[in-house]
Amino acid sequence: MNHGFITFEGIDGAGKSSHIEALAQWLRARGREVLLTREPGGTALAERLRELLLHQPMDALTESLLVFAARRDHLRQVIEPALARGTTVLCDRFTDATFAYQGGGRGFDGQVLVQLESWVQQGRQPDVTLWFDLPPAVAAQRRAAARAADRFESEDETFFTRVREGYAARAAAAPGRFIRIDALQPREAVWAQIAQSLEERGW
Ligand SMILES: Nc1ncnc2c1ncn2[C@@H]1O[C@H](COP(=O)(O)OP(=O)(O)O)[C@@H](O)[C@H]1O
Ligand SMILES: [Mg+2]
Repeated sequence: MNHGFITFEGIDGAGKSSHIEALAQWLRARGREVLLTREPGGTALAERLRELLLHQPMDALTESLLVFAARRDHLRQVIEPALARGTTVLCDRFTDATFAYQGGGRGFDGQVLVQLESWVQQGRQPDVTLWFDLPPAVAAQRRAAARAADRFESEDETFFTRVREGYAARAAAAPGRFIRIDALQPREAVWAQIAQSLEERGW
């Protein structure tokens, strides 16, 4: 049976959080143990780092170091133990977001991110990444209707265009892992695409 590690990616407002719970229920109905978590966050320490990341001004290197510090703690305390006992882990954002936001959005050195990724993850990668892709202008409208903006969500459309390109580059580099979800569709169609693509892969 395909246990594994599924990550949700895409720009702010793309619909990740709206669908993660439905996928957890769908997998549980198929008899799996499922753990829902998020990044940055997922442990007491990583949630404190998240607060700093979302609200405290800092440069791109500091941002990248804190994201990977949070990820290290999350992997050791939560993700690796869960995978080891056969639990399916659904994570709202993971390392592709670091490449997209710090690398694409902030223009930070991708080679440094590759190095941090290999130190922190020791080869661990998601089995499947659901990439919610939609135009930044639509995502901005959805966010504006839903919530107050954090430090990332306050960025302009050109920032999110670079983030989107960052995701596209990661998807092109790992086509077997990425599933591109057309997040512009109505919710029911988005959900149908998620379920159908996982079913096709034997989930
Ligand atoms: N397919 C969709 N069509 C229209 N609105 C959507 C759709 N999916 C999500 N939304 C709405 O868009 C907003 C952002 O969704 P959310 O799941 O919080 O995105 P994310 O977690 O990717 O930032 C929410 O108000 C949500 O209700
Ligand atoms: Mg969300």
